[in-house]
Amino acid sequence: MWQSDPLARAAEILLDNGGERDDVLCDSPRLPSARAADFGQPVSSYHMLPVTERPYEPGDLAGVVELFVASIRSLAAPFYTPEQLAAWAPATPDVARWQQHLASQHTFVADGGGILAGFASYQPDGYLDLLYTHPAFARRGIASRLYLRVEAALRAAGLPRVVTHASLAARPFFQHHGFQLDAEEGVECRGATLRRFAMHKPLAANPAL
Ligand SMILES: CC(C)(COP(=O)(O)OP(=O)(O)OC[C@H]1O[C@@H](n2cnc3c(N)ncnc32)[C@H](O)[C@@H]1OP(=O)(O)O)[C@@H](O)C(=O)NCCC(=O)NCCS
Repeated sequence: MWQSDPLARAAEILLDNGGERDDVLCDSPRLPSARAADFGQPVSSYHMLPVTERPYEPGDLAGVVELFVASIRSLAAPFYTPEQLAAWAPATPDVARWQQHLASQHTFVADGGGILAGFASYQPDGYLDLLYTHPAFARRGIASRLYLRVEAALRAAGLPRVVTHASLAARPFFQHHGFQLDAEEGVECRGATLRRFAMHKPLAANPAL
């Protein structure tokens, strides 16, 4: 039975996937969510699902948190140590903090018929905060579609530039989309130091310019 409260529902999903919360979140990459099971799709066929972008809804909370962990522990794994990955994507995510964080931003999700393929969030001042693709959907243009939704929203709002902090894993993606490097940084994250890149992209009034 689904909880009506998104936070309780998220906690229920995360705890319901194989018993121990830690086991669920350390077994990336996989798509363990109850929502995925509802659709009866084998994992190998997920990449064939048609994906559309839509605004984040409170019921997406558990899927977003799971996707975040799976994405980092798989796609970012070649670039960071296990200690850095564990600090970035803790085995026991603070779901309440996630709920607050997402509520304070604009967020789009890529929805493959109820299975989350990716999500992106930004702030009204032009800061692109979160951009994550589920490993099962990597290199299919999911992040590009999400990013272009964000860029279009910022252009429509008249913002002169979009800025972000790119991980080592994401730097090629942002370069592909025309971002310029401003600085290399080390950011403290739960006791670890992670390399990242401050980047920006000017937003001309005409995207063709
Ligand atoms: C970075 C990330 C969001 C890209 O997602 P994606 O959906 O696979 O990206 P796309 O398919 O839209 O890629 C578009 C282009 O970006 C570039 N690109 C993306 N991932 C790349 C990689 N790992 N290596 C080199 N280039 C890459 C390519 O030019 C790609 O085009 P191509 O596939 O035709 O060559 C994803 O790898 C991810 O979630 N990484 C882990 C988490 C992370 O670091 N998030 C960003 C936090 S700042």
